[in-house]
Amino acid sequence: MLRKDGPMRIVVMVSGGGTNLQAIIDSVRDGQITNTEIAGVISNNKNAYALERARENNIPAMCISPKDYVSREEFNEKLLEAVNEFSPDLIVLAGFLVVIPPAMIERYRNRMINIHPSLIPSFCGKGYYGLKVHEAALKRGVKVVGATVHFVDEGTDTGPIILQKAVEVHSDDTPEALQRRVMEQAEWKILPRAIDLIANGKVYVADNRVIIRE
Ligand code: GRF
Repeated sequence: MLRKDGPMRIVVMVSGGGTNLQAIIDSVRDGQITNTEIAGVISNNKNAYALERARENNIPAMCISPKDYVSREEFNEKLLEAVNEFSPDLIVLAGFLVVIPPAMIERYRNRMINIHPSLIPSFCGKGYYGLKVHEAALKRGVKVVGATVHFVDEGTDTGPIILQKAVEVHSDDTPEALQRRVMEQAEWKILPRAIDLIANGKVYVADNRVIIRE
């Protein structure tokens, strides 16, 4: 990912409130993420508050919605075009709830990362997103949950794992309280850290596993 001619360019893809995007913006500003610039933010949801967060920070922001195209194929093409326009070195999926087109996975293999709100391989895969992840964890009665940053491959939450962080479950947790704690104590920490490690050439993939050399 290392550019010779300047900082690593990232595009952040969002669908919702954008608290992970905000953590990235704050970390770049505060120097926890170095050698990185946020080239753009793309959402499939024109009402995503994440777009507002981008605009407030003078980051180019756009909506590419499947609703605006006659077919999924056409949407997929337009989405990849919009991403390529930013010439990103790294794509960051931060709560992006749209299936990534296979052509995009191929083009950005090991250059596209995702944050998932569980300790993969628990509570992940099809149907496990947002609050559903935390509802399942509470239903199973696990005592520890957490978040995972991983490279994106053709599967759902199946790519090489980069970072994970554990979070304790409290006996009186509701799904909402648990989600918030996982975001505050895990997601908002490991996603910026993963970006900084990648931006500084410290992350390698071998045999589908990630090696971090600090
Ligand atoms: C986060 O919980 C993230 O783990 C999941 O989607 C949610 C996005 O939240 N992938 P936000 O839009 O970053 O606030």
